[in-house]
Formats: sequence, structure tokens, C-alpha cells
Amino acid sequence: MQKVFAFFRSLIQVTAFWQENRVFLREFKYFWDIAVLAVIFSFLGAVFEGAALVVINSFLQVLTNPETTAVNLGFDWLKLWIFSPESSTNDRIARLGFLVILLAWMRSLFAYLGPVYAKLTDASFADRMRKSMFEQLVSLSLSYYSQARSGDLVNCLNNEIATIQRGFGAVSNFAIRGSTLIVYIVAMFLISWQLSLAALVLFGMLSIFISSFVVRVREASFPVSQAGGDFTSAGIELISAMRTIQTSATQNFERIRFYRVSERVKQALFRLNKAVDLIRPLAEAISTTILICVIVTAFHVFVVSGKLQTASLLTFMFILFRMMPLVEQVNGLRVEIGSYGGSLAKLREVLTTEDKVYLQDGELEFTHLKKSIDFLNVGFSYNSTDKPVLHNINLSIKRGHTTALVGSSGAGKTTLADLVPRLYDPTSGTILIDGVDLKDIKISSLRSRMAIVSQNTFIFNASVRYNIAYGVEHIDEETLIDAARQANALDFILDMPQGFDTVLGDRGVRLSGGQCQRIAIARALLRKPDILILDEATSALDSVTERLIQESLDRLSKGCTVIAIAHRLSTIANADKVVVLERGRIVEQGTYQELIDSKGALWKYHQMQNSSSNLESSEH
Ligand SMILES: Nc1ncnc2c1ncn2[C@@H]1O[C@H](COP(=O)(O)OP(=O)(O)OP(=O)(O)O)[C@@H](O)[C@H]1O
Ligand SMILES: [Mg+2]
Repeated sequence: MQKVFAFFRSLIQVTAFWQENRVFLREFKYFWDIAVLAVIFSFLGAVFEGAALVVINSFLQVLTNPETTAVNLGFDWLKLWIFSPESSTNDRIARLGFLVILLAWMRSLFAYLGPVYAKLTDASFADRMRKSMFEQLVSLSLSYYSQARSGDLVNCLNNEIATIQRGFGAVSNFAIRGSTLIVYIVAMFLISWQLSLAALVLFGMLSIFISSFVVRVREASFPVSQAGGDFTSAGIELISAMRTIQTSATQNFERIRFYRVSERVKQALFRLNKAVDLIRPLAEAISTTILICVIVTAFHVFVVSGKLQTASLLTFMFILFRMMPLVEQVNGLRVEIGSYGGSLAKLREVLTTEDKVYLQDGELEFTHLKKSIDFLNVGFSYNSTDKPVLHNINLSIKRGHTTALVGSSGAGKTTLADLVPRLYDPTSGTILIDGVDLKDIKISSLRSRMAIVSQNTFIFNASVRYNIAYGVEHIDEETLIDAARQANALDFILDMPQGFDTVLGDRGVRLSGGQCQRIAIARALLRKPDILILDEATSALDSVTERLIQESLDRLSKGCTVIAIAHRLSTIANADKVVVLERGRIVEQGTYQELIDSKGALWKYHQMQNSSSNLESSEH
């Protein structure tokens, strides 16, 4: 009784499953036509298969009993054509044979088209999943990436989507086999409803029995996804941290860690496979038992008493034998589909929109800054659980001026600057740009007028040309070379083996820190920005290059509104306004000279840097 309840519960769970999986199901709108064709072809395949079975039954009847006309072919005109009174036995056999061959070829045609379209559906589904992952990843607020593990995301993109594609394949297979099974069942009922009923009840019980295993398999699938994510994370970290690992001689330590996660994948898979692989042999043994019981009973009860012709029993057996692997496959597929639960859950976690923060795009186009950017009581924290990083910031950044942000490491300078291109939104207060709330401005129009030369510029694994011109369309060679020259990057670029076509390697491993920065400056120069954010743009350069870069930055800044962050005060002495940040608060702001004169926080930095540079020069 409990088993029966469990069966019904699992039926309801199926609908809950559909509820739960709307992030996947909504993708169908992109390829429903292919999916419909797959279903139609598969169903036609099953119908022709069933029709062939019925005709084979008549074929056997005519062979065993040439005088028979009591054959049910479903259509009267068909029966008339084959069993017309003037036709000879040979004619009948030839016609039936022809019909069997025709039906077999038709079945084969659709048995080809069905899977081809089913696989195209799977592939379209995986394609849509990858694309919706992309859409999700680019529309999420950056704060998501402070929490998410890139290993998990890469694992989702690679393994989980591939797994789900397989799972989806299993679902369509399930549908194909299921519909064939239904046709078989109909054919069986046409031959003998009593026998069919008996077989059906027995196979139904087998199916209920298998349901309890499906739950177990599903549960075993979650640790597999978890371990897969951990393993991808470990792999990515291993490769990106190789330099640190080599220099700190921690190979052994890393080996233990890596081996442990690899081992966990193995064990999780072993547990899952143990659960999955138990089912098939068990189901096979049980169905063989059922089959033999049905045949023996049928022979004793129906054939001996003359209720059933031997030919019909033969056909019935033929159907049962063909049906057996189908029943096993359908049961196997149910188990297999259960085993994709872990991957589905992982992907659902990434794709659900309810629990995530998105940047809300505004409507107004931004062309250029007319007056100022104003921070009004702005507060910010990276996560709702974290402590605020910025408190009550009130600041006006005037058009065409250079505003310098100064403060100790971790004071919140980068964070403050990141609010201007809306990489993050303030958690409290507002930022106005020419009196308009920043949130009302179209993000793309805002960002296309800005350039950021930041502490960690990302260099793409592509040519120098691609890296400099990144995101700017239609660049002629002259402008490109000019930007490189102005950024003092031309000499080292031309020294590289293929000049502007040299490929820079993952994250620009083929560049020095200072060279990366000069590429970044060239990239900024090309964008002809209206607002420029310099986050310690000169920190990685020697003092000679630094001076040259400073000059080119001054050129770049001309006519721009600049927000400059620098640790070395010498680079910001000419700023129109200096803002000193401490622990996320503005402690003072004014011109450089004013702040030095008032002997506050900036003066302290000034003293510190002077004494250390005095120390350096006295050492020389
Ligand atoms: N993505 C992030 N998620 C969570 N916290 C962050 C994130 N980025 C920075 N923080 C925290 O915010 C604070 C301010 O960081 P921020 O990068 O703005 O400092 P900064 O003034 O630019 O320092 P530095 O001079 O070293 O570059 C730090 O305490 C840091 O731990
Ligand atoms: Mg910083």
C-alpha cells in the first residue's frame, strides 16, 4: 500500500518538478518546432511499428492457417484488398508480406528521423542553457561575483550543462520509448485483453518497485555536482596560483588538497553508479520471470482451451519479447533522469533570478558631463551581511576638474570610484550626475563615455591590437599607433615578435606590470573618455617611465573630468580637489595646499612620505 502511495506521490512530484523547473522549460519557446517534430516523428515510428506487429500477426495466421479470413486489420478496405474472395493464398501471403516490408521501411525512416530531431532538441536545449547562463552572468550585479565561486560557475557552464543535455536526451528517449510502449500495449490488447491485463499489472508492479530506487539515485546525485564544483575550483586555483605555489614550495600541500577533491569526485560517482547500476540487472531478472509466467499461463489457460490461436500467442510472445527491453529501458531512463537532479539543482541555483541583485538600467542617454557628479549621503556595503565600506559620503566632482582620492589601503577609494560607472549601486543615499539620479541613466551610454585605468587591468588572451582597441569599433591603424605612442607603449610593442599582432597570453602573462598598465592607458586614450578614473595608474612604473606616463595622462585628462586615486602624493599635487578617506569616511577635502596648511590627515601622509623619501635619499 505504501508503495502505491509512493507511486502517486512521485506522480505529484513530477508536476512540482515542472513548477520548479520553469527556468529550463521557458527555453522551449526557442526550439519548440524542433521538439514537436521530434515527438511527431517518434510517435509515427511507434505507430508504424505497432501496425507492422498487427500485420505480422495476420501474416502468421495466414501462414499457419491458409483458409483464415477472420483477421482484424483495423481497416475494412485493407482487409478487402488482401482477403478479397478471388485472391489465392499465395496472393494473400505476397500482399501481407509486401505490407510488412512497407511498414518496416516506414518505421525505419521515422526511427531515423525521430532520434535525429530528438538529439537536435537536446543540443538546442544545451545551447539555450549556455546562452541564458551568459545573459545571467552579464546582467548580474558585480556584487554577485564577490560571493560566487568561479569554479562552480565554470563547472555549471561545462559539466552541468553537458550532464543536463544528457538528461534531456534521456527525457526524450523516455518519451520515444514510452510512446512505442503504448503502441505495443494497444497491439497486445487487440490480440488478447486478458493476457495483456495480466502482463500490464505485473509490469506496473515492477515499475512501482523501481520508483523507490529513483529517489535513492536522485539523492546520490547531489554530492556528485558538489564535488564537481569543488574540483573545478581547485583546478582553476591550481593553475592560476602556480607561481605562488612554486615560489612558496607548497606542491605537497597542494597535492594533498587536489588529491582529496579528486578522490571525492570518484567516491561520489561510485555511490551514484552503485545506485544506478543496481536497477537494470534487477529489473531484467524480474521481467524475465514475469514473461515466462505469462507465457506458461497463457498456453495452459487459453491455447489448450482453444480461446487463442497459436499464431496469436506467437505474436503476443513476439510483442512481449520486443517489449521487454523497452520496459527495461524506460525503467532505466527513469533512474537516469533521477540521477541528473544534482546538476539541475546547481544550474537552477545560478539561473534563478529571485535571490539575486541586478543592475536596473535607466532610460536617459548620457552624452557628456555638463556640471558635476554629486554624492549625497552615500553609503555602501558589498553584501547585506557585511559591514558598510562607505559611510555618509558627500562629495561634488566638478566637470573638467581633477578630483584626487587619498587614504590608507582598504579605506574605500576603489569602492567609491566604482560607484561612478555603476559597477555597484549605493546601499543608501544617491549619486546625481548633472542633477539626474545615476540610476535613471542608461548604463551603456554612461560607461561608453568613461574610461577606467585600474589597479588590475584585465588583459585578454589576444593580440595587442585587440587589447588596445577592445570595445571600440572601426579603429584605423594610425589612431591605434598614436594611442600606443601617447601611452609610451609603442616601443615595447614594436619590440615584440609580431608587434601589434603579438598574442599576450592568459591574463597578459607575457607583459610586465608596467606594460600592462601602459596597454590600459592606450585603451583609455582610444575611448576618448569624458570621465576618466585612474586607480593608481602609475603604481607599477619606474620613476622615469612614471614621469612620461604622467605627461601622457595629463594629455589624456585634458578636457576630461578625472577621478584619480594615488598613494604617492607627488602625482596628485596638481589636483583641483583632494579628498581624504579613512575607514570609508571623508575626513577632509579641499585643495592640496589648503589641506597641507590645515595640518590634518593629508599633512600626516605628506610628512610620512617625506620622511621615507628622505630616508631613501640619505641611504643613497
Ligand atoms: N568585492 C568585494 N567584496 C567584499 N568586500 C570588498 C570587496 N572589495 C573590497 N572590499 C572591502 O572594502 C573595503 C574597501 O576596499 P577598497 O578596494 O575600496 O579599498 P582601497 O581604498 O581602494 O584600498 P587600496 O588602496 O589598497 O586599493 C576593504 O575593507 C575591502 O575588504
Ligand atoms: Mg584600491
